Amino acid sequence: MKHFQVNPAARLAGEITLPGDKSTAHRAIILSALAKGKTEIDNFPANEDCLITLGAFKKLGIKCARRGPRVFVYGKGLKGLKKPRGPIYLGESGTSYRLLLGLLAAQPFESTLTAGDSLSARPMRRVTAPLRKMGAVLETRTVSTTSLVEEYPPIRITAGGLKGITYELPVASAQVKSAVLLAGLFAKGRTTVIEPVRTRDHTERMLKVFKARVEVKGKKIILTAGKELKSPKYIYVPGDISSAAFFMVAAAVVPDSKITVRNIGLNPSRTGVIKVLKRMGARIHVTCRMSHVACVEPIGDISVETGKLSGVRVRKDEIPTLIDELPVLMVAASLARGKSVFEGVGELRVKETDRIKSMSENLKAMGARMEVEVRDGKESLIIEGVKTLHGAEVKSFGDHRTAMAMVIAGLAAQGKTTLDDASCIAKSFPNFLRVVSLLTGEKYGKKAEV
Ligand code: S3P
Repeated sequence: MKHFQVNPAARLAGEITLPGDKSTAHRAIILSALAKGKTEIDNFPANEDCLITLGAFKKLGIKCARRGPRVFVYGKGLKGLKKPRGPIYLGESGTSYRLLLGLLAAQPFESTLTAGDSLSARPMRRVTAPLRKMGAVLETRTVSTTSLVEEYPPIRITAGGLKGITYELPVASAQVKSAVLLAGLFAKGRTTVIEPVRTRDHTERMLKVFKARVEVKGKKIILTAGKELKSPKYIYVPGDISSAAFFMVAAAVVPDSKITVRNIGLNPSRTGVIKVLKRMGARIHVTCRMSHVACVEPIGDISVETGKLSGVRVRKDEIPTLIDELPVLMVAASLARGKSVFEGVGELRVKETDRIKSMSENLKAMGARMEVEVRDGKESLIIEGVKTLHGAEVKSFGDHRTAMAMVIAGLAAQGKTTLDDASCIAKSFPNFLRVVSLLTGEKYGKKAEV
């Protein structure tokens, strides 16, 4: 097996800018395709997932061109999508899959969405259930056990006229909320989504920028269909806070570090990682600027210096604001003084891999102390900080965020760490190892593979 080796870092230092936010980029492509005319999407992240969404719209008859960090989408209006020639393959991109399922369920043509191995094992009933309530006709791969019936890709969508519904989300999921809202753009009347806890609101913000009739009242989002979208012509995608989080934690725990990450999206529905690291005692300074030209999100710079971290309690309602940052926060908690508790982390079981399992197995191999506590069916993760982690053989489990979190653990550990496979990192952050090299002064990338 090809191993990737990580050495303990002496320090991290420097200033970086990062590719655009994955969630924002998916939505920018989708709404640009549905508005008439050309939209320029700047600071587009050329990761596997976002390129999958772009490729899907090409199959739906939308012209898209990529020039460096810019993507140009030539939208054709709400009625402009074409029946694709064959199934649309969405690889391992869960956001592409669930959002497109909502969008395509409302189109007057048939389509089939297929997926890679890991995404084909991720639950889709959370999306198919509300879409069927709206009138969607969907054929899924169904698996029944004694306690549950779940649905998985591939999914065949038969043309159907939808009607607006009021839907209370049973899980706090921005992907499900967005799928229902995108279907709602084409449904008769009003679509209302009620969230149990507020999740990332990029879809709502982007819909407003595209002049959709959308209103947000607390945890309620109300969308009225029937109005063509209007392109803002230019969208700047702020740097991805989920990518920045890896370096924030690295700088906080590796001695003598000092880094600045510039132009990062600071949407409050995504900044849980900053709040939690600050509560742990991390030395973080944030400067938030006015939104960039035509950018729909707040943006700013984050500076982090090494600090002494203490254990933290993260409440269930905070989880959606840092769901993707939990793997690297587990690394921070493992190196903090005292106990950390992450409440209500069950959703981690259904990400690209079961991230509770992948991270526990890996961090325990490095000497961390963690366990899962189940109360009233809700899972909490308890981590007792240790003085040092030691290098070990760890596994990516095919999951980009497990892989990156373990590289960060390796930088902060004593002794060498080997990761079985780093190729999955390209899903969200193809240049990750190059940025690690830049900040640590060590050469990572191809030469680090032994
Ligand atoms: C995303 C929402 C989150 C997140 C995922 C991206 C989005 O998933 O984990 O990486 O862009 O809407 P859930 O909404 O399923 O929690």
